[in-house]
Amino acid sequence: MKSLLSLVALACVAAASPVADQVPLNSQHALAHPDFPNFDLNAVRLVQFEDQSAPVQMTEWQKLEAKSRGFKFFDVTDTPHLGSSAQLRIQSVFPEPNATEKVLPILKTLSTKGPEENLRKFSSFRTRHYRSETGAQSQAWLVSKIAEITEEWGSDSLQEKISISEFPHSWGQNSIIVRINGTSSTDDGVVVIGAHQDSTNMLFFLPAPGADDDGSGSVTILESYRGLLAADFHPERAVEFHWYSAEEGGLLGSQAVAQHYEANNVNVIAMSQFDMTAWVKRGTREEVGIIGDFVDEGLTAFNKALVETYLDIPWVETKCGYACSDHASWMKAGYPSSFTIESSFENSNQNIHSTNDRIDVSDEFSFDHMLEFSKLAVAFAVELGGSK
Ligand SMILES: *[C@@H]1O[C@H](CO)[C@@H](O)[C@H](O)[C@H]1NC(C)=O
Ligand SMILES: *[C@@H]1O[C@H](CO)[C@@H](O)[C@H](O)[C@H]1NC(C)=O
Ligand SMILES: [Zn+2]
Repeated sequence: MKSLLSLVALACVAAASPVADQVPLNSQHALAHPDFPNFDLNAVRLVQFEDQSAPVQMTEWQKLEAKSRGFKFFDVTDTPHLGSSAQLRIQSVFPEPNATEKVLPILKTLSTKGPEENLRKFSSFRTRHYRSETGAQSQAWLVSKIAEITEEWGSDSLQEKISISEFPHSWGQNSIIVRINGTSSTDDGVVVIGAHQDSTNMLFFLPAPGADDDGSGSVTILESYRGLLAADFHPERAVEFHWYSAEEGGLLGSQAVAQHYEANNVNVIAMSQFDMTAWVKRGTREEVGIIGDFVDEGLTAFNKALVETYLDIPWVETKCGYACSDHASWMKAGYPSSFTIESSFENSNQNIHSTNDRIDVSDEFSFDHMLEFSKLAVAFAVELGGSK
């Protein structure tokens, strides 16, 4: 990795960079953009990079610089305790998929209709940046859509087991947690399926439709949730769907949630992240990218078996680096987690973090491809949640 010292040096001369030319700063060096009333670029944060033995202090401005140069990191400012009791719970052995009789009928009911409609809406917010006004609005919209789906598709007895809650964050866009309680009185395990709801533009004040990153994962898992409700899925073990805030700020939302679960000794059996599920690069074979670095090996093998058992396309193993999405927060907390993505990392969508991360940018954006990931999340929930 490039040296952090040079990075910090670069941040100091940032006023000469093209980004700086376009950021409207007022005399206090606070951002004066009406859509970001609470984004202080001079605020000091604690940031953990892969090759640093301890977190380093940097400003929000320097974080933006680091991100635009391709560095990945955890912003650990608000989550100093995450991982303090780690390695106690890593449980790497997962069963062979064996619930085909339960899973297959549900897969047939999944559709591209809801995801397409929901993603058109979700990517129409100017930005879903976690510190923006429209990011708070897109989060409120998502909560109301989840509530609507729950009422429309959940039986009365299932709805009684479901809670929809907001996990509050100081920056204004909350993470969302939907829980379907398990029927077992002895099994306290929880199965978690996640995506991140926020978006960003590398020039963060510009529009960030975030259709693929990660609007696609957000509506992918929402369709899985709808399918499970429609099938009247009463898991033995609790199943939760999470839509994290502020992934793009350094995994802030997922770290806060994971820290809370770790502190409360929640028995998370497995966590599966869906971040970018729509892109099939022209001229490439359609496949599921299964991330193989910084993940739980056993759970990753389990995901490969799910793809082989339930999907119409093959998997390919790939890598995305340190702290590349929210599964990393769960690994840090000591819970087995995994991450599946639209393709090998090299073939993934290059329009992300720009105004071009749109549905209509190219016919490489595929709702049929997303549907394969909805199937994967359903299989994950039923196989690990169990259902009588
Ligand atoms: C599948 O395997 C698991 C773990 O071995 C077991 O608990 C479960 O009852 C099996 N389910 C079915 C449908 O056979
Ligand atoms: C789910 O179960 C927990 C206990 O494990 C309980 O506190 C909570 O009220 C339940 N939620 C619903 C919606 O039944
Ligand atoms: Zn993402």
